[in-house]
Formats: sequence, structure tokens, C-alpha cells
Amino acid sequence: LARERPDLELVREPSLDALRHLELPDAIVIDGDHNHYTVSEELRIVIERSASAPLPLLLFHDVGWPHGRRDAYYSPALIPEDRRRPITEGGGLVPWDPGTTEEGLRYKYPASREGGPGNGVLTAVEDVVAGHPQLRLAVVQAFFGFGAVWDTRAPWADAVAALLDPWDRDPVFERLEADRVLHLATQVVHKVQTDRALARIARQDELLSRLLGSRTLALAERIGRLRRGGRAEVSREDVRRVLEP
Ligand SMILES: C[S@@+](CC[C@H](N)C(=O)[O-])C[C@H]1O[C@@H](n2cnc3c(N)ncnc32)[C@H](O)[C@@H]1O
Repeated sequence: LARERPDLELVREPSLDALRHLELPDAIVIDGDHNHYTVSEELRIVIERSASAPLPLLLFHDVGWPHGRRDAYYSPALIPEDRRRPITEGGGLVPWDPGTTEEGLRYKYPASREGGPGNGVLTAVEDVVAGHPQLRLAVVQAFFGFGAVWDTRAPWADAVAALLDPWDRDPVFERLEADRVLHLATQVVHKVQTDRALARIARQDELLSRLLGSRTLALAERIGRLRRGGRAEVSREDVRRVLEP
């Protein structure tokens, strides 16, 4: 992107370093490390630095499932231990289970459990906004959740409110998104289960093919035929038939 767009300035720094010294812009999209510590620190720094200037319009992604109420970490070592939730490395997430599963949407370092204090992007945004009565939060639960925070004293505050109010925590949006992630996770679970079943079938096919070409089965078939008066318990023909596509 940096190569293709010389008009953009790429800052190669974690947000918590960059936000301390960059000139604050008019608007900031916060969509980096999806956890309570990082997001609340990002907000704290921007709010502190805006004490004598207008607060930028703050836009958030991932205030819905799965990160709204559950931390995930890109680099757990960067998060102070007392602010980090217990992690299930490579855990799978599904919206119907607050724990982790083997089969859901996989994340490298997700929190082992969803919910509770100090957990998740939306929880962080709500916690910070609760401590600043001049701030407003709007949540549009579309595509993993979009959020916006602004200072109600900003000259453009009413224009932003007029735009977002009709969608803020709209129950139809919430229902549609809940339905979407339910289907998404169900598809992922089915794919994992199907892949697992196909791998098992491939192993079985391989074993049966080896058995078919082995003298073991030929011998067993012959012995079986002798003992059962002409009909073997398992014949090479039986094995051949189950190997047919
Ligand atoms: C979910 S992606 C979103 C990227 C972009 N907003 C987009 O929609 O394509 C998060 C990105 O933030 C980066 N990231 C993670 N933690 C960060 C942090 N503390 N500061 C800056 N970037 C971070 C990750 O490496 C990843 O590229």
C-alpha cells in the first residue's frame, strides 16, 4: 500500500507509541490490536493529548462479535500481565460458546473466555466513554461491528449524530449481524468437520488399498472360506467394493 500510494504516510510503530507523538488528525480509525488494554490506552492517550484541542472523530472496527467482549492479542508480550486475560493459543471461536472450541474461527491469541470486566474492544470503549460525560458513543452492529466516539461539543457533533443516530444500536442490525456470524461460524465448523472426515476416509482408503494388495487378506479370505464352507467373512471383493468411488 505504501508503495502504491505515495500520498499516504506510513508510520511503522505500534499505535501506543505513534499516538504519543504524531500530530493528531481530524479522525482516527482504531482497528489494530483488539483488546481492552490497547484500545483503552489508545483512547486515553488521544483524549489526554486533546485536552487543549478538539478530540478527533474516533472510528472503531470490531466492536461486535468476536472481539466486542473478548480480547485477542497480536503480541501478548506487549500487554502488561495484569491487563491480559488468560489466552487459549490457536483457540476457535463460535458465537454460541463463551469459551474456545477446536472448530470455530481460529485466532492466534484469543482470550479463553468471552465477557466480564476488562475484556473486549466494546467494553474498553464503553469504559472510557463512561468516564467522560462530554463523549458520545454510537454502535452500528454491521460486519463485526462499527463504532464511533465524538465530543458532543465539537462543531460537527450534531452532523455526526444525525448520520449515526438512526443506526445506533439498531435492533434489526444487531439481529442481522448475529445471524450473519452464526452462519459464518456454522460454515467454518462444518468445513473443519468435513475436512476431518475426509482426512479419516483418505487414511482408511490407504489402509484398505494396502490390505487389498497384501497377502494377509488373501490368506485370511482363504482360511475364512475353509472354515465357513465356501464363504469368507471378509473378501477382497468386499474391500474392492467399499473402495469404489
Ligand atoms: C484487523 S487488521 C486491520 C487492518 C486494516 N484496518 C484493514 O481493515 O485492513 C489489524 C492490523 O493492525 C496491526 N496491529 C496490531 N496491533 C497493532 C498496534 N498496537 N498498533 C498498530 N497496528 C497494530 C496488525 O498487524 C494488523 O495489520
